[in-house]
Amino acid sequence: MRTGPLKIFKDIGELLTLRRANEAGGRKVEEVDLSIVKDAVLVCEAGRVAWVGPSAMFTQAIQQQWAGIEAAEFISLGGRDVVPGFIECHTHLVFAGSRAQEFEWRIRGQSYQEIAAKGGGILSTVKSTRSAPTEELRSTAQRRAEKFLHQGVTTLEVKSGYGLDLETELRCLKVAKSLKGPRIITTYLGPHSRSPDVPDFDNYMKMVCEDVLPRLSGLADRVDIYVEQGFFSVAQAKTYLSAARRLGFQLTAHVEQLSDFGGGLAALPFKPQSLDHLVFASDELIDALAQSETTAVLLPASDLYLRMQYPRARRMIDSGVRVAISTDFNPGTSPTQDLSLVGCLSRLEMRMTLPEVIGAFTIGAAHALGLQAEVGSLTVGKCADFCAVEGSWRDLFYSVGDHPIQAVYKMAEPIELSYSSSTP
Ligand code: NIG
Ligand code: FE
Repeated sequence: MRTGPLKIFKDIGELLTLRRANEAGGRKVEEVDLSIVKDAVLVCEAGRVAWVGPSAMFTQAIQQQWAGIEAAEFISLGGRDVVPGFIECHTHLVFAGSRAQEFEWRIRGQSYQEIAAKGGGILSTVKSTRSAPTEELRSTAQRRAEKFLHQGVTTLEVKSGYGLDLETELRCLKVAKSLKGPRIITTYLGPHSRSPDVPDFDNYMKMVCEDVLPRLSGLADRVDIYVEQGFFSVAQAKTYLSAARRLGFQLTAHVEQLSDFGGGLAALPFKPQSLDHLVFASDELIDALAQSETTAVLLPASDLYLRMQYPRARRMIDSGVRVAISTDFNPGTSPTQDLSLVGCLSRLEMRMTLPEVIGAFTIGAAHALGLQAEVGSLTVGKCADFCAVEGSWRDLFYSVGDHPIQAVYKMAEPIELSYSSSTP
């Protein structure tokens, strides 16, 4: 039975459906799990994948499933390869100001925590964000969302966390919700730093749990916390995660970024969708993650900028942990939106294979956001979000600064790629 307009994408060189990776829950993705269909046809109905297979089987499939095929729109992809739309599952997209000066301080030897302790770091971005007019926050965030879209990002997670007070946090979440282009998932990150207004961490946490969390419905899809020495403690994380869980929020947390602080093992019993950073994850945490449904989100661009070691991706993947990767785009630890950099670092520094990188940016990241039934693979029933690649898909995540995406489709609709990355 037809339920919406039929779009038939033909002349596809190699189509990476990720069918087997999807079936395996995004764990241990090998080339065979990309489930590549050569000389493929992709049939989309009402924006979702309705059929996918080799062109030789297309006529037969059509006869069996669809009547009135003349009414369908045929679109040639000119022999290009197709991959699922990429998913950025960890970004701090809404902020004002720059931290270029702090970058220079870090080059000269000051640590991220030393800079934070003297009121720089996150607090300096809080100052600029609070004083920025909403329209300015919206236009810069929109430009950044489009920069991601250009790289084939069709689903984008956006955190708050640079307001810290109720008014600015709500303003930033509203800005995030208003963004056009990619599908947006919003995350409240009130417990991101010591607040300038309520410097005592316990009092701030009380305010967050009692005054802010109950006001977030409709604005935040999930909540996050930064658990680290000098930021929020393990005990505060437990208080927060249980309050948020009671209110029905999905959970995630920044853990073990700068030390093996214990946030990961403390957060895991709350069944977070993801635990992120994990640079100092212990064997015990990795083994516990492997037994869980929680996705490990690795953010190697922030490790590069902090000149840190990298998470033990090989140990995680080989143990059966589902891994996702993301830019962590933010003005402090990862002032880059470049997916090619993240993919190359994952390969070079974390020894991930290309199929693992592609899996981590698609089905792995879909799980990290709880969207695995909707996106992350080009299998029947999921959103027809995909990218046509210029050249071979094997050239992806090979050359830093070069991410050869020729066209982007969301729900089978082409996205106008009018924005130029050189636009100020
Ligand atoms: O993911 N670690 C905490 N949050 C961010 C950094 C935010 C900032 O420095 O502005 C991160 O690395
Ligand atoms: Fe982050």
